[in-house]
Amino acid sequence: YPGAQQYVPDSRDLADLAAASAGCRGCDLYRAAERTVFGAGARDARMLFVGEQPGNEEDLAGEPFVGPAGHLFDKALERAGIDRGTVYVTNAVKHFRFDRSANGRRRIHKKPSGGQVAACRPWLEAELDAVRPDVVVCLGATAAQSLLGKDFKLTQHRGEALHLPEELCGSCDPAVVVTVHPSAVLRAKSQRDDMFRSFVQDLERAATL
Ligand code: URA
Ligand code: SF4
Repeated sequence: YPGAQQYVPDSRDLADLAAASAGCRGCDLYRAAERTVFGAGARDARMLFVGEQPGNEEDLAGEPFVGPAGHLFDKALERAGIDRGTVYVTNAVKHFRFDRSANGRRRIHKKPSGGQVAACRPWLEAELDAVRPDVVVCLGATAAQSLLGKDFKLTQHRGEALHLPEELCGSCDPAVVVTVHPSAVLRAKSQRDDMFRSFVQDLERAATL
């Protein structure tokens, strides 16, 4: 893929970045999805959250984390005492990747490829540079691999206070915490309550960094 770099303007105004991202053709995902779902939230956020990619509802609404995973995320933030109005929320990949169900009616989430994650990373770097958060929370392995390298193992480093590689975010040096993706909590059956509690604990800890 050519990657998003050529579409990213020099401006670090979030509205400028969001407007430019609407025309991104840095990989093939813009073709089937409805729209670019750029990050959203406070320009001066202390905490920046990174998910994987927009889902079906986010693609329709144009906002990150507004579907089922977003509802669980909202509940966990509230339980952790974090006001969503004070944070910035985005995704590693800005377009929804999906397969069609057999009857063609449903769009079924498909994990973005490593190449698509790499293609979209310039948008995430620009958001980091614009917001300059104190803490970055990676929600799941895709976000972690985008920022910390493709061999990053979530299970080995979950909840630890980590750092970004130097080439990301230039002069800022936020703490980075990796936790599970809210969709993984939704998918968990018998352990769902335990998983939710440990997700909230990771968020509480991240808020103190
Ligand atoms: N899952 C994500 O990773 N991001 C969203 O915005 C919604 C669901
Ligand atoms: Fe551009 Fe990212 Fe969308 Fe690919 S997924 S077209 S790189 S915004």
